[in-house]
Amino acid sequence: MANARVLSGIRSSGALHLGNYLGALRNWRELQHQYECYYFIADWHALTTDYADTDALKANMLDNMAGFLAVGLDPEQCTLFIQSRVPEHAELHLLLSMFTPVPWLERVPSYKEQQQQIKEKDLTTYGFLGYPVLQTADIIMYKANYVPVGIDQVPHIELSRDIVRRFNHLYKPVFPEPQPLLTETPKVPGLDGRKMSKSYNNAIYLTDAPEEIERKIRVMMTDPARKRRSDPGNPEVCPVFDFHKIFSPQETIALVDRECRTAGIGCIDCKKMMSTHLLQEMRPILGKRRELEARPQEVLAVFEAGSKKAQHTAQATMAEVRQAMKLV
Ligand code: TRP
Ligand code: SF4
Repeated sequence: MANARVLSGIRSSGALHLGNYLGALRNWRELQHQYECYYFIADWHALTTDYADTDALKANMLDNMAGFLAVGLDPEQCTLFIQSRVPEHAELHLLLSMFTPVPWLERVPSYKEQQQQIKEKDLTTYGFLGYPVLQTADIIMYKANYVPVGIDQVPHIELSRDIVRRFNHLYKPVFPEPQPLLTETPKVPGLDGRKMSKSYNNAIYLTDAPEEIERKIRVMMTDPARKRRSDPGNPEVCPVFDFHKIFSPQETIALVDRECRTAGIGCIDCKKMMSTHLLQEMRPILGKRRELEARPQEVLAVFEAGSKKAQHTAQATMAEVRQAMKLV
């Protein structure tokens, strides 16, 4: 499947953190050597929830662009672009919206879930309902075969398959049906044990200096039942142990698993070991990031060139779409 196409995107709704790295970017970095990959920053998707406050958009975009490059996405290996720099996405979104039944969108689980969770924003908007239609346009614009996503995004990919089938049936068979590419992603808890998220203020960012990361880990939650050094702990309920499983070698994981339960090791030492292994992986990323910060124009140029390249593909697709729909 060397020629199969992969596409994925990230909403530019905040600074990139360890959850984004472990859940998406690290995996994308592998895939760029196996497939023809398109990776992009979904700035219009950020607007679906943040339309009322756009102050942070630009800073988030700059953070995300530098982050993509710092983790090792390589513009020689994949196409890196920005959604709004390829306005064809908006045109395709509009055309798809003409034949996408509203009940299909109301049935997407994240639609009602997010409305219930995010009470402080009015998400009864047309744009928010249409989120998965725009996502479908993103995917099929490049005739992507595979879409690496987390499990929470699978209903969106399924909907995009439904929309593709409807397009191919109504007009002409232009688009392949995209498949989710589910890669095993580890559980990435935040510092407080909840899911890592900017809005919980519990994240380790890809821009955090090593000392800052060590400081955050020092105050990270552990097994709440382990109050004193002499209390035995249960690593299964401890977010520090989740990180050991991600970053530490097998021997260390086995040692912590054993010695925590017998109070043979204290949390302070356990965290120090974990910090060391985590930083081993994250330090080079931060180093690259610091280098890039000195050359912001180069980062911009990569995404400008990538967006042009993406637009080239997008224009070819739109020509086919207009033909199929007899809009010529
Ligand atoms: N909805 C995705 C998320 O929240 C972001 C996204 C937008 C996306 N367009 C996409 C992911 C297309 C994959 C393909 O993570
Ligand atoms: Fe968590 Fe490690 Fe403390 Fe056990 S020893 S509770 S795994 S931090």
